[in-house]
Amino acid sequence: MAPRVRPITAEEWTAWGRSVGVPFLHPVSDDPADAEQHWERPPLERTWAIVDGNRFVGNAAVLTRRVNLPGPAGGPCPAVPMAAVTAVGVHPTHRRRGLLRRLMEAMLTDAVARGEPVAGLQASEAGIYGRFGFGVATFAARRRIDPRRGAFARPAPEAEVRLLDPAEAATTLPGIFERAVARTPGQVDRTEGSWTWEVLHDPPALRNGRSAQFHAVTDDGYVLYRAERVAHRDGRRLRVTDLCATSPEAEAALWRFVLGIDLVDEVEAFPRPVVDPLAHRLADLRALGTTGIEDFLWLRVLDPPSALSSRSYRRGGRLVLEVEPPEAATLDPDPAVGRFVLDASPEGAIARPALPGRGADLRLGLPDLATLLVGAVPASILAAAGRVAELTAGSLTTADGLFATQPPPFDATGF
Ligand SMILES: CC(C)(COP(=O)(O)OP(=O)(O)OC[C@H]1O[C@@H](n2cnc3c(N)ncnc32)[C@H](O)[C@@H]1OP(=O)(O)O)[C@@H](O)C(=O)NCCC(=O)NCCS
Repeated sequence: MAPRVRPITAEEWTAWGRSVGVPFLHPVSDDPADAEQHWERPPLERTWAIVDGNRFVGNAAVLTRRVNLPGPAGGPCPAVPMAAVTAVGVHPTHRRRGLLRRLMEAMLTDAVARGEPVAGLQASEAGIYGRFGFGVATFAARRRIDPRRGAFARPAPEAEVRLLDPAEAATTLPGIFERAVARTPGQVDRTEGSWTWEVLHDPPALRNGRSAQFHAVTDDGYVLYRAERVAHRDGRRLRVTDLCATSPEAEAALWRFVLGIDLVDEVEAFPRPVVDPLAHRLADLRALGTTGIEDFLWLRVLDPPSALSSRSYRRGGRLVLEVEPPEAATLDPDPAVGRFVLDASPEGAIARPALPGRGADLRLGLPDLATLLVGAVPASILAAAGRVAELTAGSLTTADGLFATQPPPFDATGF
C-alpha cells in the first residue's frame, strides 16, 4: 500500500519525535523523555507523519505563529498569521518519491482552510522550497568581531547590565523582545513554547562543549551568549545568539558590554542584520567581519489580496501583478496564482484579484511575491536576475518605490 500522510494521535508523540531525528541524522533514543524534550509541541492536528505500514517514514509540523509585515513610517508592523512549517523530513529509505510534495500539499491545504495568508519556514538547503512557492524573505549575516579592536568612534551610552538566571530571563526577556521587534518586518513572534523550547532551552546534553547560556539584560535590551574554547588558541570565543534592544542606544550599550568581557579573543554573532549600525559605531570598520550572509526566513504567500493589503506602503501607486504557478503544484486551485491589482497609498492599500482581461504590469514567480511582500530585495534586482518581467514601462520603478521598507526585513527567531 502507498504511504499515507496524516496527522498523528496523542499516543504517537514519542514515535513521531523518533521519526524527526532520522532525516536530521540525529537519532533519538527510545526514552520518551528524550524524544519529547527538544522542541515546542505543535498542535496535534498540525503534526504530520508519513506512514508506511506500521512505520513513520517522514514528518513535518506547523506551528501557529505570526510574522511582521512592513508597517507605516515610525509605526508598528502588522503581524499576520503564519503557518510556521518545521520538522520537515523524509527518511532516507523513502526519499525522492514525491513524499515531501505530499506533506506540503497537506500542510498548505490546511493553512489555506485556516485563512492564514502566508506560510513560513527555515530551509536546511536553499534548493528545496522554491518549487513549492517559498521565496526568501529575510537574510542574516554571520559576524566575527575582534574585541581588541572594538573601540567605538563615539562613546556609547552607559547602561546597567544585570546577569539573570534562566527563570528570571523567562519572565523578563519576552516583554523586551516584543517591544524591540515591533517595527521590523520579517520578525516572527515568540510564543511561550518558543521561549521555553528554543531560546532558553539549555540542557547540558545540547551544549556541544560550550558553556551554559548567559542572559545579560538592561532595561531596554538583552543579549544571550555562550563561551567556548578556541581549539588552536588559549582564548575563548563568545557566541552571541540573540541581541535585541528597543533603541539604537540600548543596542550600542549591549555591544559595549559584550566587547568588554574579559578573556575573550573573538566574538561571533548570528543571526545579525545585513546592514548593521554596529559597523558604523566601530572606530575600526574592519573589526567587524562577515563570514557569511544566509537566507533565514522563507515565506510562501497563500492569499495575495490579504497579504498585500495587510502591509503598509510608504508611497502611492497601482500595479497589476501576474503571479505564475509554482513549479510543483501543491494547491488545486492555488489561490496565490493569477492576476492581482494592488492599489497602495501611505493611508492604506487594497489588493484584489484582477477582473478578467486586465493587463498585467509585472510578471513574477510566487517565490518572488514573498520576497517583495516584505521588501527583502527590490523588484528591479529580481528583474535583473530574470525573475520578474516588466510588462509595462515604468512599473519596475513603481514596484521599487512601493515595496521598499525601512528598516529592511530581519528575523531573529528560528522555529
Ligand atoms: C529534503 C527532503 C525532505 C526531501 O524529501 P523527498 O520526499 O525526497 O522530496 P520529494 O521526492 O517530494 O521531492 C520533491 C522535489 O524536490 C526536489 N528535492 C528534494 N530534496 C531536494 C534537495 N535537498 N535539494 C534540491 N531539490 C530537492 C526533488 O528532486 C523533487 O523535484 P521534482 O519534483 O522536480 O522531481 C528529504 O530529502 C530530507 O528529509 N532531507 C534531510 C532533512 C532535511 O533537510 N529536511 C528539510 C528541513 S528544512
